[in-house]
Amino acid sequence: MEGIPFKHMALVGFMGCGKSTIGARLAAELRRPFVDTDRLVEELTGSSIPAIFSAYGEPVFREHEHQALVQALAQPPSVLATGGGVVMREGNWQLLAEHAVSIWLQVPFAEIRRRLAGTSGRPLLQGDPEFEQAHRLFVQREPLYRRADIHVDATAPPARVVDSILEALRHVGKER
Ligand code: S3P
Repeated sequence: MEGIPFKHMALVGFMGCGKSTIGARLAAELRRPFVDTDRLVEELTGSSIPAIFSAYGEPVFREHEHQALVQALAQPPSVLATGGGVVMREGNWQLLAEHAVSIWLQVPFAEIRRRLAGTSGRPLLQGDPEFEQAHRLFVQREPLYRRADIHVDATAPPARVVDSILEALRHVGKER
């Protein structure tokens, strides 16, 4: 697409901000492959994310996540949905800075909580019915998400969010 940087588009943001939904739509618009690093970790390890957390713990998952990012970014430009914790490792930022335009899907915590209520499959939300631990994580990570190249209000309907991203990407394309 004209004016859009020929780099990966990496969506970052907290669990429940819509990285997979928006990512799949954005990839269709840009006619690029859609890659989800969580799914890639599952393919590479042959295990589900909850199984990796419970058998080996979070640090091992983070290493797999980093390797998945390395692998995804070595492919031709795609739209990438990253896991919510990818921003916690400096090495991941170095990779993103080199190979991708990073896009933060910004959603307030109250809305995140509403979206995640009753969902399953996220180990960091297990045993946290009041979302207290999740809120701490959200506060801790917000300054990290802020490092992204583009910030988008992701509370709007998906089609509008995708339009805002495309618009912002055309500006980035002009600047570079
Ligand atoms: C995590 C987010 C999850 C997944 C894992 C850890 C996190 O991905 O990578 O459960 O640390 O925020 P989503 O952001 O796609 O839910």
